Amino acid sequence: MRNIQQTSSYVVSHKGLEEWVLHVARHTQPDRIVWCDGSQEETDRLFDLLVKAGTVQRLNPEKRPNSYLARSAPSDVARVEDRTFVCSQTKEEAGPTNNWIDPVEMRKTLDGLFEGCMRGRTMYVIPFSMGPIGSPIAHIGVELTDSPYVVVSMRLMTRMGAAVIEQLGETGDYVPCVHSVGAPLTDGMADVSWPCNDTKYIVHFPETREIWSFGSGYGGNALLGKKCFALRIASSMGRQAADEDGLGWLAEHMLILGVQAPWGKKYHLAAAFPSACGKTNFAMLIPPEGLDSNGWKVTTIGDDIAWIKPDAKGRLRAINPEAGYFGVAPGTGNKTNPNCVASLGRDVIFTNVALTDDGDVWWEGLTETPPAHCLDWQGRDWTPELAKAEGRKAAHANARFTVAAIQNPVLDSSWDDPEGVPIDAFIFGGRRSTTVPLVTQARSWEEGVYMAATMGSETTAAAAGKQGVVRRDPFAMLPFCGYNMADYFSHWLRLGRGLRDKGADLPTIFCVNWFRTDAGGRFVWPGFGENARVLKWMLQRLENRVNAEEHVFGFSPRYQDIDWSGLAFTEQQFAQISAVDLSAWKEEFKLHDTLFETLALGMPEALKVIKTQLQSQVEEKLAA
Ligand code: OXD
Ligand code: MN
Repeated sequence: MRNIQQTSSYVVSHKGLEEWVLHVARHTQPDRIVWCDGSQEETDRLFDLLVKAGTVQRLNPEKRPNSYLARSAPSDVARVEDRTFVCSQTKEEAGPTNNWIDPVEMRKTLDGLFEGCMRGRTMYVIPFSMGPIGSPIAHIGVELTDSPYVVVSMRLMTRMGAAVIEQLGETGDYVPCVHSVGAPLTDGMADVSWPCNDTKYIVHFPETREIWSFGSGYGGNALLGKKCFALRIASSMGRQAADEDGLGWLAEHMLILGVQAPWGKKYHLAAAFPSACGKTNFAMLIPPEGLDSNGWKVTTIGDDIAWIKPDAKGRLRAINPEAGYFGVAPGTGNKTNPNCVASLGRDVIFTNVALTDDGDVWWEGLTETPPAHCLDWQGRDWTPELAKAEGRKAAHANARFTVAAIQNPVLDSSWDDPEGVPIDAFIFGGRRSTTVPLVTQARSWEEGVYMAATMGSETTAAAAGKQGVVRRDPFAMLPFCGYNMADYFSHWLRLGRGLRDKGADLPTIFCVNWFRTDAGGRFVWPGFGENARVLKWMLQRLENRVNAEEHVFGFSPRYQDIDWSGLAFTEQQFAQISAVDLSAWKEEFKLHDTLFETLALGMPEALKVIKTQLQSQVEEKLAA
C-alpha cells in the first residue's frame, strides 16, 4: 500500500479519528489528504481551484464581492429522496416512510462503490460542529469528501476547521460522514466541471451514527451536516437519548425566530414548514407598516433546522445547528424578503441561478423586471421572449444561495448562544390549497402533535420528482426522520408528558396554512410580512390578550381578532381562508386514515383516540 501524502496545519491528537481517515483513504484511494482548517487562505485557495476546474465562476467583484456562481450537472439539482436510505438493523426501525436495505447488504454495496472512487482526487477532511462549539446542545461531525465545492460550502454552513479538532481532543465523539462525487480520475483522465455519478446513494446507519453519500455533489445530498446529520442522524440520537434520561431531545425541520412584542417581552418560536415553502422568508420577516408595529421586531435564530433540548428546569431550549443558509433563490426578492436580499450582497456561493451580462446573478422573483438578456442556469442564452416562447426559466426552480448567517441584517443577538433560546410556541405549516384554515391553536400538546402528525403538503421543487401532489408530511419531517415515524410521534408525546410531570410549562402549538387559494387558483393570503398579523394573534393568545373561536380542531381567530390596520383584507376574504368546511374535513379524515394505516405499527394510542374524537365530532355536526 503506497503512502498517501497528508497536509495539515494543525496537530491531530485524536488517534481514532486519524485511523478512520486513513482507513477510508486506503479504500477510496485519493492522491492526497488535506485536513481543512477553515481559514480564509484555505478558502481562497479552494476557490482558485474551483475556478480553474470550471465548477464555479467568479462574479463581478464590483457587483458581488467575493461571490461565485456554480452550475451543477443538469442531473444533479436536488435531493434524491428515492436514493436516500435509513439502514437500521431492522426495516421496522426505519419505518414505512424511509427506504431501507439490510445494513449488511448496504455495506457491501457501498464497499464496492467507494473502492477507488477518489482516485486522482484530493480527499478533504472537514471537522465541523453543528451548533456553537462546546454548546451542551451541539454535536461534532467529520466529513471526508473529494469535492472542494463541498468544503467551501461547509465552511459557510457550519462551524468548521481547526477549532473543532481542538474541541474533539484525544477522544471526543464525532459523527463520521463520507462523501464522494463518485467520479474517479484514472489514467490522467480529464475532469468535468461538475463531477457526479448517475448512481446515487445517500445512506444513514443510525445505530453506528454513520453517513455515506455517493454520486451527488449537490446540497442536502453532499453537505452532510445538514439533512443527513442535523435531521436524520440527530433525530435518531435525540430519541435514543430518551432511553437514558426519559426525555431525550428533538432534531426538527424548523426555523427559529425571536419576536419582540410591544409589551416588552421577547418570545422565541420554532416553526416547521415543508421544503421550499418560504421558511427563509418567515425567518427574516419584517412586520408591515400599519400593524401596531411600535416595538414589533422579528429576528432570526435559524432558517431550517432546530435542535431542541430540555434544560434543568424542563424548559425546551433551541439552537440552530447550522451557521449559514442554503436557501432557495427563486421567489426571493425585495418584495418577499428584503433582509435576505441584503444578506446576499457579498461572500455568497450561488448555484444554478442565471448570470447577467454584467457578471451578476438573477433569478425569477429577484426583481419584477427580468434582465433583457442573461445566461440561464445551464449557461444558455435566455431572454424574457425565449422564456415566453419555450417556458424556460432562467434559474433552476431549486437554485440556491449559500451564505453565512452573520450576513443576515436581522440576525438575533442570541443566535450563537450555546445555551440556546427558550421556545414559547411551535408553529406547523402545511402547504394546502384547501381545507386547512389560516391558523389554529391546539388545545393541548397531544392535539398539537396530532395536527403536526397529519400535516399535508403539496410537493415542491426541493426534491427531485413530481410537483404539486399532496402528500402527508408529518411535522415537515417526512424526508428527514431518521427512524420510524410512528415512534417519532411517541417520542414527542413522551417528551410532553415528561416535561409536564416535571412541572414545566409546555410550548403552545399552532398550525398555519398560508396557501389556500380562491376559485381561480390564486393565493388569497397576501403572505410574507403580513404573516406578522398572525404572529401577533398567536403571541396575544399566549398572554390571553385576545379572543378566539373554538371549533372542532381548536381555537382560531375571528375576523375581528386579527389586527388589519394598514391592510385592505375583507371579512369575506378572511372567510375564504379560515372557514372550516366539515364536509371537506370528512374527506380529509380518509387521508388521515391512510396515514394511520401506513404507520399502524407503533402508532401511539393517544393519537388514535384524538382521531376518533375529532372524527365523531365532525360527523355529529354534519348530521345536526
Ligand atoms: C432544504 C430542504 O434544502 O428542505 O432546506 O430541502
Ligand atoms: Mn429544509
